[in-house]
Amino acid sequence: MSETKIDTKAGTKKLFIKTYGCQMNVYDSERMAESLGGSGYTEVSSPEEADMILLNTCHIREKAAEKIYSELGRYKDLKLANPDLKIGVAGCVAQAEGEEIIRRQPMVDLVVGPQSYHKLPQLEAKAGKGVKALDTDFPEEDKFEHLKARPKAKRAPAAFLTVQEGCDKFCAFCVVPYTRGAEVSRPAERVLSEARDLVERGVREITLLGQNVNAYHGAGEGGTWGLARLIRELAKVDGLERIRFTTSHPNDMEDDLIAAHGDCDKLMPYLHLPVQSGSDRILKAMNRKHTAEEYIRLIERIRAARPDIAMSGDFIVGFPGETDQDFEDTMSLVREVGYGSAYSFKYSPRPGTPAAEKDDKMVDADVASERLHRLQELITEQQHAFQDAMVGREVSVLFERKGRLAGQMVGKSEYLHAVHVTDDVAVGEIARVRIIESGPNSLAGVVLR
Ligand code: SAH
Ligand code: SF4
Ligand code: F3S
Repeated sequence: MSETKIDTKAGTKKLFIKTYGCQMNVYDSERMAESLGGSGYTEVSSPEEADMILLNTCHIREKAAEKIYSELGRYKDLKLANPDLKIGVAGCVAQAEGEEIIRRQPMVDLVVGPQSYHKLPQLEAKAGKGVKALDTDFPEEDKFEHLKARPKAKRAPAAFLTVQEGCDKFCAFCVVPYTRGAEVSRPAERVLSEARDLVERGVREITLLGQNVNAYHGAGEGGTWGLARLIRELAKVDGLERIRFTTSHPNDMEDDLIAAHGDCDKLMPYLHLPVQSGSDRILKAMNRKHTAEEYIRLIERIRAARPDIAMSGDFIVGFPGETDQDFEDTMSLVREVGYGSAYSFKYSPRPGTPAAEKDDKMVDADVASERLHRLQELITEQQHAFQDAMVGREVSVLFERKGRLAGQMVGKSEYLHAVHVTDDVAVGEIARVRIIESGPNSLAGVVLR
């Protein structure tokens, strides 16, 4: 089939994308959908109506990876009913398992790793009717340059923008350095031009993304720019009102980035800074390369620059060799820091990682579950306390969408709380709001005019 033939049918084929894992996958899915738009696909919201199903997958924990196979199993009937249906697997499972996916699930037509998304249109054209298309290379080019939106559709007010990918840290438990490859930063000018383009399309808040976003070191005017410089330049973009970034590593929290939290008005007072454990012994075994004390001192410095900052983190319980005392150290660290929100996970051994070889030191599953439960209770308590403390306060809210109830509008505060109001505000508007109530997962407020 010729290229022109595909083009004349532009928009007639239907694409269903299901996204798992982190925000970087959300961003990648958006880019892939936009790029497949050029091959005549429009996005639909159910697999039943699709001509192509694309799963953008996550390999971080075993459960996440196994979910993909059960999801694929569900598409069997669709594929039998429509042999022209193309099924693709993208993302970190695609990278980690490659051809193995096709062996386990032969109805998969296409497997594409995160660094090869710019080749998606060619792979899509090749795949189908028994022909398998596979690409899990790590090429030396900026895939996002090839994944530009056409046509330039209007965007929701809050957007993600990937500025850095991959990781060189090799924490003992983590697959990311293997699935996403080495740390690479996009050139600053490309990030700035993508940001300007997003703003033209209606975006007012950008969250800069990277597996280690604060290790950003992109080529920029006059040399290499760190994340702080990039944020300061982004802050000059008219119409861009809010900047966030995630995820950060404590060891890359440089002085200028801490300072930016104090003096850059557009940088929001919320910081996701995973520590994983409060025990120095476990931190060492995890290859995190810092102590619990150093993390706590770092947060003190960040809070000195921006006293009202909401801290967030990630924790792993049941890492091989974790004793009751190690776990209590994690609980103490959480009490000392006081998180606005935090995520906690039971350790999951991942193939190819150093920690997976310590299976003789595995923590009993029931003990790990009990620890996770206790940690999550403590985190939930802190989350609610932080949320409740907002009642009576004035916050700024970027309104993102209509709420479930009639007349309701929902947005995010600077601290990333979901806030709903029943006042007359437009999507994309930033308004001052007085918080009047704290619910289980969101706040209610009234707009101050
Ligand atoms: N780059 C980020 C983390 C990416 S993965 C960082 O360094 O903070 C997101 C979170 O998943 C991690 O912070 C960790 O808490 C969790 N995680 C990663 N590997 C895991 C594993 N093998 N088992 C359980 N949780 C894991
Ligand atoms: Fe994984 Fe550690 Fe890299 Fe984060 S810093 S992506 S946890 S290896
Ligand atoms: Fe998962 Fe890959 Fe993100 S493993 S957490 S989708 S980088």
